[in-house]
Amino acid sequence: MAEPKTGELMEKIVSLCKRRGFIFQSSEIYGGLNGFWDYGPLGAELKRNIKECWWRSMTQLREDVVGLDASIIMHPKIWEASGHTSTFSDLMVDCLLTKKRFRADQVEPQSGTAYCYTGASDGSGGKESKDAFSVLIATGKHAEYARKVARQFYQERGIENPTLLGERTEEVKDTTRYNHENGSLLTEPRPFNLMLKTYVGPVESAENIAYLRPETAQAIFVQFKTTLEVSRQRVPFGICQIGKAFRNEINPRNFTFRSREFEQMELEFFIRPDEVVKKLAGSVTSLSDPQPSTLNPQPTWGWELWHKYWVEQRIKWYESIGLGRDTLVEYWQKKEELAHYAKATVDILFKFPFGTQELEGIAARGDFDLTQHQKFSGKSMEYFDEEAKAKYVPHVIEPSAGVDRLALALICNAYCEDQAPDEKGKLESRVVMKFHPRIAPIKAAVFPLLKNKPALVEKAKAVRDLLRPHMSVFYDEAGAIGRRYRRQDEAGTPFGVTIDFDTLGEKGPELQDTVTLRDRDTMKQERVKIGELVPMLLEKIR
Ligand code: GAP
Repeated sequence: MAEPKTGELMEKIVSLCKRRGFIFQSSEIYGGLNGFWDYGPLGAELKRNIKECWWRSMTQLREDVVGLDASIIMHPKIWEASGHTSTFSDLMVDCLLTKKRFRADQVEPQSGTAYCYTGASDGSGGKESKDAFSVLIATGKHAEYARKVARQFYQERGIENPTLLGERTEEVKDTTRYNHENGSLLTEPRPFNLMLKTYVGPVESAENIAYLRPETAQAIFVQFKTTLEVSRQRVPFGICQIGKAFRNEINPRNFTFRSREFEQMELEFFIRPDEVVKKLAGSVTSLSDPQPSTLNPQPTWGWELWHKYWVEQRIKWYESIGLGRDTLVEYWQKKEELAHYAKATVDILFKFPFGTQELEGIAARGDFDLTQHQKFSGKSMEYFDEEAKAKYVPHVIEPSAGVDRLALALICNAYCEDQAPDEKGKLESRVVMKFHPRIAPIKAAVFPLLKNKPALVEKAKAVRDLLRPHMSVFYDEAGAIGRRYRRQDEAGTPFGVTIDFDTLGEKGPELQDTVTLRDRDTMKQERVKIGELVPMLLEKIR
């Protein structure tokens, strides 16, 4: 089957998400709210599965990571210490004509002829504007278009019948100074803080301003000491958290990819500074050493090896939930791209239909955050290392992932169109969501072959009840069996269990109490004893 084009593919995915109840626009009946999304029944299960898999891999399956669930609104000083109040901003530009706002780095470069004006007067010697303005039009396009836009600009400034002043033209190449939608000049780029503000308490005053957290990480840093004390962990160890984060993104786009409300899954892994490692182990293994293994943590590991270790752990985790290596890119940020606190950052990118984009960032943050909180709170963030007999502020490796972005990646990765036989064996096209069974919203669908045969229905309901305590199950008796399979293929349900007359023993005792188990991807069916279903399915979905 021909591959759909990328724009077309994304449209199909968005439409399926809505039709099948993965993702809806927030507040849809009121026209929606840009940058906010709701997850329907299938999407909610998908997100829960993602979070559970992540949490399990971080906490249950490791000795050295504990969890935290902190409040969304925290003391505003935290954001001063972390640098968010002063530096958490994007450069934005506004269209001088329509006031529409764009992220400066997302304005497409354009070339053409710029028509520049020094101002406009009202003809009859009345009002005058000395505001300079210019309009970019494609070279060769009629000058009247530029003049029309310029007149609109001056009309907005109260010049009713503008005569344009000082017109001159200039050929420009690859400029990002103009709005591609109407040619109007944009404002100079200026920073726009992305934190969403609110007030705590009954008075809306400056001293009561608080922020909806723009990342979950800072709560972990400020609770570093308390968590350390109660968990009896020792450095190296980590604290992880899953929770909502909010950013007043200038241009939310690409479906849920860049939202204003989203969830993060973050780990802050605290390690010894390299000097302490050297003091204890005699040397510090570096990435430039001949083939250092990054599989099992070693006492000689400094930040470089721990950083690489976490990059590899995270990629393995993505593979374990169905994102193959070939769908991911490991991007090492260049020195000039690094955030001010980072010694190194690796972005794990996913090949979305709209481009290869970040899923997760893994940053080596040094001791920046703990030191900042120590300075701003006046409370020590030092750790006493019994083994090294030394006090220090631990350094940090931070794998930080977005739940919603990952849900979108998994949906894009799962979307597939292929051919399947209908009731009469004729091939028809089907849409199938090939989710890894670990994260599939529904694990098994149970179908009685016919809904008007009470014995089949009763048996099917008994099988549903047998599976229910162990996994999410969907029972469906409506319509032809092929149609029911197709509906579950679209929902991404990996296993279909059909109860037929053989199950009732109508073809002899050997098939009694067996069912057909259909594999969503291969569409192959096998006969399985009801008694073996639970362990068999559990093995596939865990
Ligand atoms: N504590 C570090 C931190 O927050 P980040 O790169 O800004 O780093 C980490 O965010 C992850 O959070 C991103 O890789 C992405 O998955 C997710 N994320 C960030 N902004 C987002 C947005 N506006 N919409 C959806 N997910 C977002």
